[in-house]
Amino acid sequence: MNTDDLRRSVMAALAKITHPGSGLDLVAGGHVQNVAVDEDGVARFQFLLRPEDPSDLVKEARGTVEALPGIKGAKINVQLPQMQPPGGGGRRGGLKPGSVPAPTPKPGILKNVRHVIAVSSGKGGVGKSMVAANLAAAFAKGGQRVGLLDADIYGPNIPLMFGVSRRPSVVGEKGKEMIEPLEAHGVRLMSLGFLLDKEQPAIMRGPLISGVLKQFLEQVAWGPLDVMVVDMPPGTGDAQLSLVQSIDLDGAVMVTTPQEVSTGDVRRGIKMFERVNTRVLGIVENMSGLVCPHCSEPIDVFGSGGGEALATEMKVPFLGRVPLDPAVRQAGDAGTPSVLSAPTSGAGAALDQIAEKVRHTLAALVG
Ligand SMILES: Nc1ncnc2c1ncn2[C@@H]1O[C@H](COP(=O)(O)OP(=O)(O)OP(=O)(O)O)[C@@H](O)[C@H]1O
Ligand SMILES: [Mg+2]
Repeated sequence: MNTDDLRRSVMAALAKITHPGSGLDLVAGGHVQNVAVDEDGVARFQFLLRPEDPSDLVKEARGTVEALPGIKGAKINVQLPQMQPPGGGGRRGGLKPGSVPAPTPKPGILKNVRHVIAVSSGKGGVGKSMVAANLAAAFAKGGQRVGLLDADIYGPNIPLMFGVSRRPSVVGEKGKEMIEPLEAHGVRLMSLGFLLDKEQPAIMRGPLISGVLKQFLEQVAWGPLDVMVVDMPPGTGDAQLSLVQSIDLDGAVMVTTPQEVSTGDVRRGIKMFERVNTRVLGIVENMSGLVCPHCSEPIDVFGSGGGEALATEMKVPFLGRVPLDPAVRQAGDAGTPSVLSAPTSGAGAALDQIAEKVRHTLAALVG
């Protein structure tokens, strides 16, 4: 089948899915736009998701399209009406069919990045930055070119976890300046926290006022990367949503603790990603039991296993458990993530295995 026939079969399949609210199919109802299939058999289209729409509608569309013969994958650009820039012509209350705006282009600079993943959580303090730092370090250890973006504006956490206290510098001639990422342990680092730093040149603080993340990312001289890891700020509010929207994410890793599993936060986090059609690559249960500092035997302090049960419940992969481990704190103090400084420790070994699973999942992605 050529790409034109494939495109027609995608349209036909989408026209068989009925919106439970309106009773119209996805094509007639104006939910899908700009359907195309590229040479590799990857279907691409825009999906307009209104706030009142069931969040599994996109999932259903993806499942249907991906099951078609000849289709290798689907890249769906989900548009949320409330996320449109101001001045869009009073679109509150839903866009009319046919009025879906053009997709936001992938930030220019991220064209050189093969995969972008986010590390996220429902609550703060569960070990997101620790997991993000170790994933990045483990990928770099495996020979990949890795960037790590600290998307928390309240302080450059990540550079400190890599033992870097320098500020980034600005290079290039006037008008074409670029921000040079910091580098440690083979990982290129940047933190949105630098934007708030009064010591920085205006080029770094400007994006805070307009455009924020996308503009900032375009000004960082990342160079070609195999994978960029984004350490997200905690929570599932608007800031997180617009972050997810402005980067073309391949997927998200959710970090939780045994105690947090029982709260709704992590579930809300997973749903947020599903709603904007970002694949949840899996759940990591952190602070799962304690490694005895004397005998290295695991001790179950808060209980464990909740993360796995949650993964089953939410139908997402379970990536593994990371024990509470003194090696993690020592790694933080020393500025070297534990997969590098203590790869055989309980936490180091667990994190290495988790990174391996994520690497596998990413390698299997198409599009
Ligand atoms: N498995 C672990 N064993 C021991 N200490 C840990 C472990 N995981 C995280 N920590 C420690 O817990 C603290 C919080 O971790 P981290 O900063 O990674 O959390 P976070 O989710 O990024 O927090 P925030 O929401 O503030 O960004 C850090 O001091 C970290 O060293
Ligand atoms: Mg953090």
